[in-house]
Amino acid sequence: MADALLIAHLTDLHVVAPPTLCYGMVDTRAFLARAVRRLNTLDPRPDLVVVTGDLVDEPTAEAYGCLRDLLAAIDIPLVVLPGNHDDRALLARTFSEHDYLPRDGAKAHFVLPLGELRLVAFDAVTPGQEHARITQVDLEWLDGALAETAGHPVMMLMHHPPMPTGLGFMDAMQPALPPAFEAVIARHANVKLIVCGHIHRAMDGMFGGARVAVAPSTAHQFVLAFDPMTPPRLSLEPPLLRLHHWRGGDVISFTTPVDPDHLTQAFPGVDAESWPEMVHRMREGASRAAVYPSEMKAPK
Ligand SMILES: [Fe+2]
Repeated sequence: MADALLIAHLTDLHVVAPPTLCYGMVDTRAFLARAVRRLNTLDPRPDLVVVTGDLVDEPTAEAYGCLRDLLAAIDIPLVVLPGNHDDRALLARTFSEHDYLPRDGAKAHFVLPLGELRLVAFDAVTPGQEHARITQVDLEWLDGALAETAGHPVMMLMHHPPMPTGLGFMDAMQPALPPAFEAVIARHANVKLIVCGHIHRAMDGMFGGARVAVAPSTAHQFVLAFDPMTPPRLSLEPPLLRLHHWRGGDVISFTTPVDPDHLTQAFPGVDAESWPEMVHRMREGASRAAVYPSEMKAPK
């Protein structure tokens, strides 16, 4: 894959129709509007935005209408998939121009090409349930879809993380997934990254030889807790976006704050004019003292 791609990843928007607040306390509409503003001004600019489910908190036509209005402000191509708070048919009706979403409420399994990269969405959502469930039919679809992507790097999209997370209350809700699921991923070494949401916290792990990158919610997070009997608590810590940077079939993932109002400034004496010569000296093996300008050195 010659060209670099930058994919912005957000999740768990939990939009509710006005004037309601999510759980009576979280203004998820305002949080999403902030994330959209940030996406539109990110530099470097993403090539694609993916949203890994829980787009609304309760699946009503009003909530999806509000969601659609908020997401319409993103001027970057968008891919969405359902989470356990969504309704597949309503989601597909809301995003009727997104042809990859089945119209009939069927599982949102799909493959999308993006240059050499293949996005493979795998829908393990069970309507009316919090947890993921994977059937033999789902696994056969996944195995076949991944076989067809041979020779291309794959980024899989899911709502639920594929493995136990260690977050006690989350894992307590999730019955074990079939071991054959991990075997399918392991059989297809071109699956480089699995991106997910659901746990309302940034997290990274491994599954079947692929890296798993979970994005935090655009709005409320869950307090970190490992004891399954510790009830979940909401946290309004500063939200983050994830950015997955694909280069030559490999991918590196970053997080960046949604709120851009933090200080950035140049190092003293380091600018676009002086930097190339400093790089040259570093590559030549010069000492730190010989590389950096005197302005950067602390006064003795
Ligand atoms: Fe969620």
